Amino acid sequence: MATFKFIIFLLLQLLLQFHPGKSDLQLNYYSESCPRAEAIIKEQVTKLYQKHGNTAVSWIRNLFHDCIVKSCDASLLLETVNGVESEKTSSRSFGMRNFKYINTIKDALEKECPMTVSCADIVSLSARDGAVLLGGPYIEMKTGRRDSKESHAALVDSSIPNHNDTISSVLSTFQSIGIDTEGTVALLGAHSVGRVHCINIVHRLYPTVDPTLDPDYAGYLKGRCPSPYPDPNAVEYARNDRETPMVLDNMYYKNILSHKGLLLVDQQLVSDPSTYPFVEKMAADNGYFHDHFSRALLTLSENNPLTGDEGEIRKDCRYVNAN
Ligand code: HEM
Ligand SMILES: *[C@@H]1O[C@H](CO)[C@@H](O)[C@H](O)[C@H]1NC(C)=O
Repeated sequence: MATFKFIIFLLLQLLLQFHPGKSDLQLNYYSESCPRAEAIIKEQVTKLYQKHGNTAVSWIRNLFHDCIVKSCDASLLLETVNGVESEKTSSRSFGMRNFKYINTIKDALEKECPMTVSCADIVSLSARDGAVLLGGPYIEMKTGRRDSKESHAALVDSSIPNHNDTISSVLSTFQSIGIDTEGTVALLGAHSVGRVHCINIVHRLYPTVDPTLDPDYAGYLKGRCPSPYPDPNAVEYARNDRETPMVLDNMYYKNILSHKGLLLVDQQLVSDPSTYPFVEKMAADNGYFHDHFSRALLTLSENNPLTGDEGEIRKDCRYVNAN
């Protein structure tokens, strides 16, 4: 029996050794195949930021929405075709923007190295470079992710937390991909930039104001969102952080401590005893926030990637390659 087990063990080792598919992400994966890949992405992200500052904000949200749904595989970017629904059509993706500029980045890469750099790596590296432009930390990221051949639209609602989910369910979602409580609190600091549409706010304003919301701030938000039933097509929104809306800083934590959180989930970080201590520490120390944000974003960016001969390198990030 023992010998039999040993033989099985040896066979497994052999299989693992010669299995050609699975390999890991690595630093500078494109150093031989497309040496300027990371420089090109950075150039494009910078140019886009100079024209439309909020593109940098979008790249950070993209990483979250792509990676938390099964894998960092650019499935998020696929359009609805042949009856296969795009992940972007889910209500969880409400308000996502600037997707057309992903094509700008991809086109620049295709010009230099056709069919070489994955859309999944563009999602990660654009978020990395966007964070720096917004005054956030620089995060060293590995590359070598490959693109999925399918959309995971059916998994979106169960994978991406909703604006009014409980903290315990949010924590367990992030826990399941290896991000601890402190890391989750830090990631939500991404809500230090960008905007929230009224549709995600009005339930805290009407018919009565949520008591965890500062009354003066509620008054301001009612001005931004005058109707309890906002038209989902109207561009009615409030900025996440009135103080420093385009800076990835710890103002978010100061805001929620003074009851100026926009989403219910933001505000609950303060009322939940498991997250409150981290909120306090992050509000007090921007460097500490940045350290934990970096660590958690890195983990998020390495969630279950396709590598080796899995998936493909898409030519156009919106569509699976034809063949
Ligand atoms: C519990 C987890 C989270 C929930 C429920 C959540 C929910 C939301 C909602 C409802 C919006 C506003 C959408 C709109 O009305 O336009 C939003 C915006 C945003 N979220 Fe999150 N989010 C979460 C975590 C994250 C994480 C982990 C990141 C990135 C690390 C992130 C990045 C962003 C960014 C950058 C925006 C602003 C987008 C823009 O202005 O275009 N979020 N989020
Ligand atoms: C959360 O908000 C959604 C709308 O986005 C709503 O349908 C749902 O009933 C809310 N859930 C809770 C628990 O309030």
